[in-house]
Amino acid sequence: MAFWNRRKSIDAMHTPHDEAAHGPRLKATLSWPHLLALGVGAIVGTGILTLIGVGAGLAGPAVLVSFGLAGLVCACAALAYAELSTMMPAAGSAYTYSYAVLGELIAWIVGWSLILEYSLVVSAVAVGWSGYAVGFLNGLDIGGMSLALPHALTVGPHAGGIVNLPAVFIIAVVTGLLLLGTRESANLNVVLVVIKIVALIVFVAIALPAFNPDHFHPFMPNGFGAPFVKTGVMAAAAIIFFAFYGFDAISTAAEETKKPERDLAIGIVGSMLICTALYMIVAAAAIGARPVAAFASSSEPLSLILRELGQGGAATIVAGAAVIALPTVLLAFLFGQSRIFLGMARDGLLPARLAKISTRGVPAVVTVFTAIVVAILAGLLPLDELASLANAGTLAAFCAVGVCLVVLRLRDPGRKRLFKAPLWPVVAAITVVGCVVFFLSLKPVTQYGFLIWNAIGLLIYFVWSSRNARLAKNPAEAA
Ligand code: ALA
Repeated sequence: MAFWNRRKSIDAMHTPHDEAAHGPRLKATLSWPHLLALGVGAIVGTGILTLIGVGAGLAGPAVLVSFGLAGLVCACAALAYAELSTMMPAAGSAYTYSYAVLGELIAWIVGWSLILEYSLVVSAVAVGWSGYAVGFLNGLDIGGMSLALPHALTVGPHAGGIVNLPAVFIIAVVTGLLLLGTRESANLNVVLVVIKIVALIVFVAIALPAFNPDHFHPFMPNGFGAPFVKTGVMAAAAIIFFAFYGFDAISTAAEETKKPERDLAIGIVGSMLICTALYMIVAAAAIGARPVAAFASSSEPLSLILRELGQGGAATIVAGAAVIALPTVLLAFLFGQSRIFLGMARDGLLPARLAKISTRGVPAVVTVFTAIVVAILAGLLPLDELASLANAGTLAAFCAVGVCLVVLRLRDPGRKRLFKAPLWPVVAAITVVGCVVFFLSLKPVTQYGFLIWNAIGLLIYFVWSSRNARLAKNPAEAA
């Protein structure tokens, strides 16, 4: 079989794990409350806390529509994910589904794009964390002593600084947590997720009484936009999209899930619904409380709005909650990144040495290596560029998942599906078309960055991976 068309066997994913061939199996320690927390923990983050400002700058009050559109596309992608992840409960998410359905070459592109996504989300969220951490420290006044850091050490060169030191610091902390092991991290995660949700509820409770409908006029100052137009509702949706993903991190934990068929479906669909509802309320409350121009370019928009409402104490509380709880997003994505890597290494597409599992059950080498790279990027680059490039990688993966849903329904309609996406042709069409349109609405520099990343990936694939693939060496294992 041609290498680009080699496919994994779906049936083989359900056979007992062969330790001799694949290395030790990850421990099954998670159930659906962990996954729901892992999902909400990964989804609610810098998107709603910080990029809401960038989105509002592009779309005006119509950023509400952008939230709706991005949420719709992500909800459809989530349904496709739920169907596929319960059919193929193996670590690796979209990469694994593509390998079984679309063949090795497309799977490589998806896996390589996921590595970009997961890595840059960590960088972007660390920069978002830094914005709130700096605001929090500025707001503290201990006996007249200020804890404020020098400006040059809180932003990268793009904003007149040297390095974003808090962003580098938080990546180091989270990496340490992950190296301690999955179970410890997942339990801590549950507590932190609750703190994050409470902070958003506090924000809404204070902002809503100051609601002024005049702030919604003009509603769409920059128009709706369209593919290739870099401002307006669509351009904002392409950025705001960042706020909605993370549920795919749940499916990367499939191998560590006790009852994948039930737990994954509840985790993915449930966390998506909770977050969409929450975002719409927070966005409406923010715009109602202050005109968009007042917070569009802030590095900590929600705290800024509260301060401008004369609620400095609440602003510090929200910033403090963000500081404590945002690391859950970092945790989930750094976790997910190492699992994608692990999946690709087990398939022989990346060197197995890098995916070696430590005595604590963590792929330590790849986790530390990724952490170093994303810390450097977070220290130097601006949030919106990091988030946009992460979005490009995610859009490629979601698009592939939509295509997988269609191909598998047509090719293998009789296969047992533990979770069936409702109205699947509509769900698949919205996922694929939505992802393509969002990609076209990103800035050219982001689109080129994505293409260059994948050109490098394809070079590695043709020179090394296609020859070392497990399926190349063991053709009998292929579908
Ligand atoms: N959805 C995640 C966030 O907004 C990536 O931080």
